[in-house]
Formats: sequence, structure tokens, C-alpha cells
Amino acid sequence: MPVGTTRTTHGGQVALRGVVAMDGPSGTGKSTVSRRLAQSCAAAYLDTGAMYRAATLAVLRAGLGEDAPAGEMTEVATGARMESGTDPSSPTITLDGDDVSAEIRGPEVTGLVSAVSALPDVRTRLVARQHALIEAAVSRGGGIVVEGRDIGTVVVPDAPLKVYLTASPEVRAARRGRQNARAGREADLHTTLADVERRDRLDSSRRVSPLYAAADALVLDTDRLSADAVLDRLRELVAERGLDG
Ligand code: DC
Repeated sequence: MPVGTTRTTHGGQVALRGVVAMDGPSGTGKSTVSRRLAQSCAAAYLDTGAMYRAATLAVLRAGLGEDAPAGEMTEVATGARMESGTDPSSPTITLDGDDVSAEIRGPEVTGLVSAVSALPDVRTRLVARQHALIEAAVSRGGGIVVEGRDIGTVVVPDAPLKVYLTASPEVRAARRGRQNARAGREADLHTTLADVERRDRLDSSRRVSPLYAAADALVLDTDRLSADAVLDRLRELVAERGLDG
């Protein structure tokens, strides 16, 4: 995939050119800082987790659950009609034409998404869509911040900047708890921590594209870093790599 690294400006604004790959488990602040980074440098933004979540919602809407045969889940998930927006100011995702941005964050989807995202054909299909969206942003001469679990290892292995965010499970569960509370979703801290640990285990141990930091990724531990501090570091890295205009 072409990931140009030439300096550019859009209307005098500092702009990103090329792909920034943002990986790491949930609750590291990855979505917040990825979106803000994209906004601050006039780049596109792609939340690949939202795509796996929308595919999972399609599986649930088809009446399938954890015990469904892998083949049935794969058929529904790969056939799901979804559209991902790449505007960081209002990232949206639709399923069968409905905006499902809020629904995909609910507990039913969160409970099943690790199983659906471990299905090899689902990954192949969604990675192909991701490539098309990334190519579209880069071929317009711009940049894109892509967040997920396998961006630096599988989706864009030649990205000029790869960042892997980490944080302890306790800090990540506390952050998820605050997010849930803000969105009006009830969940006690114990349940949230158990869910964070369960998904870490499943996402890191799956056979296809497991979660791990690429050898050339910069690993940032966000336990003691605010979102502003992480964003400052990312902007420094963009400048150091010559990806800004
Ligand atoms: O980032 P998130 O919590 O919204 O991601 C939801 C799930 O999707 C997560 O448990 C792992 C999976 N995922 C994946 O397997 N690969 C990606 N590139 C992004 C997410």
C-alpha cells in the first residue's frame, strides 16, 4: 500500500500525510487520542473496532449467539452491509443503512465481539474494506489515523508511524467504567475489569492476527499519562518522522 511521507499543507493548516497505525487493548485512551490526533492534523480517522462491532451486531440481529456454529456467524458477519465514515469530528458506522454508532457499544455486542473478530473470513473481509478506505484517504494526498489491534502488524505493516498504547487492566477498567457511566450504561467496576481481562485474553491468544505490538512500534504506557500528554507525544512523533506539513 502506498503510504507517502512527503510534506504537505491543506490551506495552510498542518496536515498529516500517510498512515498512523494506533494499536493496543481497550481502555488505553486509544480512541480519544486517535480521533484528536486526526482532527488536529486534518487527517481522516478509521476505527476498525467499530467495524468488528457492527459485524457482531449483524450476527446478533440474525438471532445468533455465542453457541452458534462458526460457519453461520461467518456467513452473516461477512455479508453485513456496513458503511464506515472517516471524518474524525463525527465518526459514524451504519448497518443496513441505520446509524449503529451507539448500539455497537452495548454489552451484547461487547460480549460477543471477540468471538466474531476471531473468525478468519470475517477478518479477511474487513481488512479488505479497511485497505479500500485507507487507500482512498492516502490517494487523495492526505493522511489517516487508523486504530485497532492489528494495524501495525497486519493491515498496514509499512505504516511510517506505529504506536502501541498500553495501560494496566485496573486503569483501563476504570476508564471504561467512566465511559459507560457517561453513556448511561450500568456496569460495576468488578464486571468491567473481568470483561477487560477476558477480552485481552481472547484478543491476544486468537490464531489469526492476535493482539501484539509490532517490533517497530513505539510502546506508550498511558497509566500515568493524560490524553493531552499522549496527544502531545503523538504530535511530536508525527513531526519527528516528517509526516507533518
Ligand atoms: O476497540 P474496540 O474495543 O471497539 O474493539 C472491539 C473488538 O474488536 C475487540 O475486542 C477486538 C476486535 N478488534 C480486532 O480484532 N481487530 C481490530 N483491528 C480492531 C478490533
